Amino acid sequence: MPPRKIIIDTDPGQDDAVAILLALASPDKIEVLGITCVAGNVPLPLTSKNARIVCELAGRPDTRVFAGCDRPLGRDLVTAEHVHGKTGLDGPDLPDPVMPLQDQHAVDFIVDTLRAHAPGTVTLCPLGPLTNIAMAFEKAPDIIERVAGIVLMGGAYFEVGNITPAAEFNIYVDPQAANIVFKSGAPLTVMPLDVTHKALVTKPRNDAFRALGNAVGVAVSQMTDFFERYDKEKYGSAGAPLHDPCVTAYLIAPDLFSGRFINVEIETRSELTMGMTVADWWRVSGRAPNATFMGDVDADGFFALLTERLARL
Ligand code: RIB
Ligand code: CA
Repeated sequence: MPPRKIIIDTDPGQDDAVAILLALASPDKIEVLGITCVAGNVPLPLTSKNARIVCELAGRPDTRVFAGCDRPLGRDLVTAEHVHGKTGLDGPDLPDPVMPLQDQHAVDFIVDTLRAHAPGTVTLCPLGPLTNIAMAFEKAPDIIERVAGIVLMGGAYFEVGNITPAAEFNIYVDPQAANIVFKSGAPLTVMPLDVTHKALVTKPRNDAFRALGNAVGVAVSQMTDFFERYDKEKYGSAGAPLHDPCVTAYLIAPDLFSGRFINVEIETRSELTMGMTVADWWRVSGRAPNATFMGDVDADGFFALLTERLARL
């Protein structure tokens, strides 16, 4: 089985960073065609800097990194420095990147890449607000049917919201973009908070990262040490939820996850519930299913996979 060709769309963010590291540690399973950056956890200049910091940490300065949209389609940007720190990658002390940012806009890279590859061969992996993906679909609707699949981190149902009582951050930041993507007809696999809140970096798991003995293990341990404080204080949880690496882990070992093929729609009108993923888990709406919405993960298997593969960098 040849490695799966993917584009990672991201707003690093410590958990995005771990997702990128896992992808770059897995060339047997994943070929990263490019990393497209979007404003989200922190503004675009920082997300596009952080993505390159992570590629260099992985020893992959050859990776092509593109800057994309610096604000949501129709709303002011909301960022999450309160979770990720002012740099977006607080925790480890990593050097500024030397590798260049590509000149091409991320949206154009997404469009050109999907047109250049055979239909059904490129998977999109959004880890942040869906602005770049939606812009690409609006600019070039012909690419939608060429997408092999979209595996994204976002949304919530049983876990409800983490940025408002109703909405998860990635969807909340750009609900219009999310609506475009969820209505596009592209095959969707969704990793909501329902799953990612079961992938917690407990102390033994963090110790295992640090014990890897490589720079990546130490950096990942320091990243999760930093951004766990917010969730531990808020939820009293046993550690940081590794949201975005669930996307990459799914590409490598899908059987770690379980969910349902259901209808998921996005609230785009009410400010009270703006960005809510209205997931028809009990199939009561009669609306056509459009997403495989994950509900559970084998957390021990997830961390065993992640730790084993980070050791390869
Ligand atoms: O709600 C969690 C998501 O928002 C993650 O992707 C995190 O990186 C932030 O982007
Ligand atoms: Ca993210």
